[in-house]
Amino acid sequence: MQIDIVSLFPSICQGALQESVIGRAWKEGIVKLNFVDLRDYTHDARKTVDDTPYGGGVGMVLRPEPLFECLADLRTAKSHVVLMSPQGKPFNQAKAREFTKCKHLILICGHYEGIDERARQCLMDEEVSIGDYVLTNGAIAACVVTDAVVRLLPGALGKDASSDEESFGNEPLLEYPHFTRPVNYKGMRVPEVLLSGNHQEIAAWRLEQRILRTVSRRPDLL
Ligand code: ADE
Repeated sequence: MQIDIVSLFPSICQGALQESVIGRAWKEGIVKLNFVDLRDYTHDARKTVDDTPYGGGVGMVLRPEPLFECLADLRTAKSHVVLMSPQGKPFNQAKAREFTKCKHLILICGHYEGIDERARQCLMDEEVSIGDYVLTNGAIAACVVTDAVVRLLPGALGKDASSDEESFGNEPLLEYPHFTRPVNYKGMRVPEVLLSGNHQEIAAWRLEQRILRTVSRRPDLL
């Protein structure tokens, strides 16, 4: 799979994604990451990408030309082009799983007040939001989406099964609580059932904990 991230700040994305699990998946060729600077598709000395909105109002709007030229360059028949925007459909685990099936994902980072509507309508296959808040910069949202997608690719987590039982995995349940050594930390003990070696009882306890957590924290998931 290849993911191209088009933004005005490619170094934000490169810095965040070259570390840890995603950085390793990139180095091992599980994913190919490509960081594209939208300013490379401008033709004036100041590399202008934005302008004031017609009709007045505050803020700046990304001009259509660099976006059209950029996508003319990057897009192939296999590409899926996604605009990062607070007005998009909510991004979630199901959408992350869906994106893993794409051969070539192109994430476009909006900026300032947004992008020219003609570029949005003509160029984007879909628009996603990572939450109901406004970031200064779609680059961070693109990193979130890339991280959530790449860690699901076979081999990215080392052990293929390890994303199955986590929150928003195959069932709409949050994760159970985890414990490691020591058994007793300042009087707080690991639940006895986890020390019992009885795998059936452990599985039943974990499922119960997942249900209790989901009911108390995220009843909307049930
Ligand atoms: N750009 C600015 N805010 C955003 C959000 N919440 N989701 C995706 N892209 C964004």
